[in-house]
Amino acid sequence: MRIENNIVIDKVSKDLIILRYNDTTTRYFEALWEIPEGVTYNAYLLTDDDTTVLFDTWKKNLENEFLNALNSIIDISDLDYVVIHHMESDHSGSIRALYEKNPRITFIGHPMTNKLIRSLYGINPKFKAIRDGETLSTKNYQLMFIHVPWLHWPETMFTYIPQIRALLTCDVFGAYTIPKSVFIEKLDDEYISSMRKYFANIIGFYRNNVTKNLDKVLTMTRDNIDMIAPAHGAVIKGNIVKRSIGLYREFALKTPINRKIVIAYSSMYGFIDNIMSHVTHVLNDWGFNTSVYRFTDKERASIGDLIGDVNNVLGIILGVSTYDTEPFPLMDFVINLLIKKLRGGKPILLITDYGWGDVIPRHIRARLEKAGFTVIDTISVNGTPTKEDLNKIDTAIQNFKQIITQ
Ligand code: FEO
Repeated sequence: MRIENNIVIDKVSKDLIILRYNDTTTRYFEALWEIPEGVTYNAYLLTDDDTTVLFDTWKKNLENEFLNALNSIIDISDLDYVVIHHMESDHSGSIRALYEKNPRITFIGHPMTNKLIRSLYGINPKFKAIRDGETLSTKNYQLMFIHVPWLHWPETMFTYIPQIRALLTCDVFGAYTIPKSVFIEKLDDEYISSMRKYFANIIGFYRNNVTKNLDKVLTMTRDNIDMIAPAHGAVIKGNIVKRSIGLYREFALKTPINRKIVIAYSSMYGFIDNIMSHVTHVLNDWGFNTSVYRFTDKERASIGDLIGDVNNVLGIILGVSTYDTEPFPLMDFVINLLIKKLRGGKPILLITDYGWGDVIPRHIRARLEKAGFTVIDTISVNGTPTKEDLNKIDTAIQNFKQIITQ
């Protein structure tokens, strides 16, 4: 393995090489998701006799780094094919630079990909549109391309290399974080959380396409996969491959794990904070695992972590302050993302607080229910909760417990 200036180059099999960039400077992935843990961009290069095939590249603005890394392995003028699994610019960012260095390259992708090559990069290279299941043979390898539409863009595809039982999956099975090594030895809780966060942030909206695409991939590969090589995070190999595929199904289906409850709230002056401390204590006493995300004058939770964490919970408790006659803006944003990325299917207890006008609960409840969430109760408090409010809250938590554990 070579590591230099955030660049990792290593063999993942005899003829397949990973070119990985450890991105420690991007603070907001997709200009949206907080990633203090960093992220990697993984491209792969297959060199077989006199044929070279590159799978994906790195993020736009890393073109020079990418060309230098690639040049340290092969002469770019010898590169024959570039397979584009997905056109988002964290993977396609160097294709224009490659084309300018070597206009002989044949770019391979889903039939829809060519249009986006022109519109994103203003080039019109040699392009081979690939049908679902179509193959490309080199001397010792037969690459099979599998369309996996809407994971997470319409043109997304995988490559399966049967000779090494490797599946190259781009975003799918990817994770945030910068793993210490190229391969991951075991799927510990920390790595699973990174995979879940990436899934929920990036693929969550398209979760209904996961199961049918995975079923199709397993049929087309005859379930003969020893290695999953994603474009973010670690390469998954050996007996954790099956576990990863199982995990992905759990992510897509939002299967509850570990008696987990997410509590997310805004509290401008501490009123909701006090209520939520009580709620959290009660739930912890009952043996639930709570993760608390606060938006206060001292704390601003990571929304990326929240959306990841909420993916496999038993239920959600939201606390929302009233602000300019509407939900507190950061909680409004969180609610929008819950609707988009989680797409309903979880029980929610909603607690709101107001000063002059009790105007937000009905509206929030309607939005959540329309998106497919079950709003178990809505408790509205005017400033400091009265004894009656506290009784209502205790009853609501009891109801919540009953529903999430039935
Ligand atoms: Fe990692 Fe959809 O790009």
